[in-house]
Amino acid sequence: MSFCFFPSLGLVCTRLLPSPWLNSSNSNCNGLLKWQDLYSRSEAHPYSYKITTYGISSFNEWHASSIRPNPHGGSDYILCHKGYPLANISLKMPGIHNVLNSLAVIVTMMALFTNQKQISELINCARLHLSSFIGVSRRFEMVGTVRGCHIYDDYAHHPTEVHAVLQAARQRFPKEALVVVFQPHTYSRLAALKNDFARALSKADDVMISAVYPAREVNTWNINGRDLAASIVGTKAEYIPNLEDVVDMLVLKILEAPDHDTVVLTLGAGDISTVGTRLLHELRQRLQNVL
Ligand SMILES: *[C@@H]1O[C@H](CO)[C@@H](O)[C@H](O)[C@H]1NC(C)=O
Ligand SMILES: *[C@@H]1O[C@H](CO)[C@@H](O)[C@H](O)[C@H]1NC(C)=O
Repeated sequence: MSFCFFPSLGLVCTRLLPSPWLNSSNSNCNGLLKWQDLYSRSEAHPYSYKITTYGISSFNEWHASSIRPNPHGGSDYILCHKGYPLANISLKMPGIHNVLNSLAVIVTMMALFTNQKQISELINCARLHLSSFIGVSRRFEMVGTVRGCHIYDDYAHHPTEVHAVLQAARQRFPKEALVVVFQPHTYSRLAALKNDFARALSKADDVMISAVYPAREVNTWNINGRDLAASIVGTKAEYIPNLEDVVDMLVLKILEAPDHDTVVLTLGAGDISTVGTRLLHELRQRLQNVL
């Protein structure tokens, strides 16, 4: 049985029978087969694929209903299959994107193992594992806490990811001030998605944008973090190109009121990931000297 997974569409497809158009050279869906492609072809060969949908609306075969924040900083929901409640699921990770990810895990397990095991047994197994899963590295990863300042880091480098992680941070820290430091990753992506990034980042209380992490690109778009900072409306946004200066600015800001509850969230796919630990180190040193 082969397997295709389209997280952004909420679809899992399971290949049930060999089909003439899908073979070992093109059966891996990583960019080789587009969904439209698969869909139109599977209509021509209706028995080739079983398509399972999942999501937060009840139109999906598997859906999450009554999603609510729980005391662990994550979400609880009721897992439903074709509208019928099957289990209470509890996650330690916040945000709708983690609810969707957990549904994808459940649907994938169903697709792979229903021949060998009872559905109830599988769901119970998924439920237990999901309730203890605390995430993978650089996904809303806690860097540390000093007095009232909580530092988190996330790999988000696409507007939908930025939106999701900010939503998750708000869910976990509804009352704290949310300071977001964003390092755009590549000039081409910033040029293509600047306004989407600006909209997603405007949900923070305070935004710092660093210079673009170029990866291997040359800046033929004549764009930089300054342009993004200037596009953010409705909240405070500054352009601070150098990451050393970002750390210094954050230290100053936090030392003004070290017991004020603040969440610092560093976002991006480049060397921004070093800022959280540097900030933690600086704050610990300064605050120890003060005490
Ligand atoms: C597998 O698919 C590729 C691309 O569609 C095609 O060129 C090739 O002939 C196929 N191989 C077999 C054995 O069907
Ligand atoms: C979910 O939990 C509630 C409260 O404990 C319980 O009444 C309900 O039956 C559970 N639902 C399922 C589908 O297990």
